[in-house]
Amino acid sequence: MEYLEHYLQRLSVKEDLQKVILAFQEAGREIARALQSSDGSKAGTKNIYGEEQIALDVFSDEVVQKFLKQCGVVSLIASEELPDQMNIGPGHYAVAYDPLDGSSLVDSNLSVGSIFGIYEDDHFIGLKGTDQVASGFLLYGPRLTMMLTVGKGVSEFLWNSDLGHFILLRENFRIAEEGKMFAPGNLRATKFRQDYVELMHYWMQEQYTLRYSGGMVPDINQILVKGKGVFTYPGYEEAPQGKLRLLVECNPMAFLVEQAGGKATDGFERILEKKIQNISERTPIYIGSKGEVEKVEKSL
Ligand code: F6P
Repeated sequence: MEYLEHYLQRLSVKEDLQKVILAFQEAGREIARALQSSDGSKAGTKNIYGEEQIALDVFSDEVVQKFLKQCGVVSLIASEELPDQMNIGPGHYAVAYDPLDGSSLVDSNLSVGSIFGIYEDDHFIGLKGTDQVASGFLLYGPRLTMMLTVGKGVSEFLWNSDLGHFILLRENFRIAEEGKMFAPGNLRATKFRQDYVELMHYWMQEQYTLRYSGGMVPDINQILVKGKGVFTYPGYEEAPQGKLRLLVECNPMAFLVEQAGGKATDGFERILEKKIQNISERTPIYIGSKGEVEKVEKSL
């Protein structure tokens, strides 16, 4: 049995980076506890994307902020729930995160998650996803798990509440070149995009298995755990960049999936090569098995 702390030491992760990752262990524990008894009530506020915040969005953001401040090595944060990036101290890491991705699924009691991407820098603008030194997510499902990469493959940890630690469950995840599983986001785009309709038909004709939860964290987790499949979230005329955010959602997921041998693009460019121009910019994303992503790129 290996604790997350010991795993990070075994991989010779820099001590300060360990502190940032362990801040997410602490945040995950608190957010998971709050989720257990949440009534899904609204906060009465909206985030910068105009999405209604539930009380738990605001709470989760405060929890992550608290632990990132406490760890003492983070200077800058960007959160899906904050209007702008924020300086929090004198450290040398910049952390982008979505404290509760998919929070509109809480009242339906579906799985949700927290996503993070860590940069050893004092700014985000001008960097690329390839500059991340670690990324991961916490998944609040029937179990609390963490998927993590520090650039040396992908590992999964399971929360053990008796021990009060994340325990290594599995490492060296590999995503197969092909795999008949699809998670088609933004199907509303089919009204305007015949190419997306045709791609849907292809998946159905070829008897792909549909696995779409409405939450990016469980959907990407599934591709990693099953080792195959593709997740798509295209744009269309009204919203050409789709909905998903480059900094807090797509970059961390792309780093994880590439580390497991998969691929992530916006249809033209590797997600991790996109220069960050704005902390709230969005991007279309096609991510998962390399061969499946390439089929999508050809179709769309
Ligand atoms: O960005 C939040 C999010 O909930 C993602 O986790 C998910 O993939 C996506 O939105 C779902 O979007 P839609 O509501 O368009 O299905």
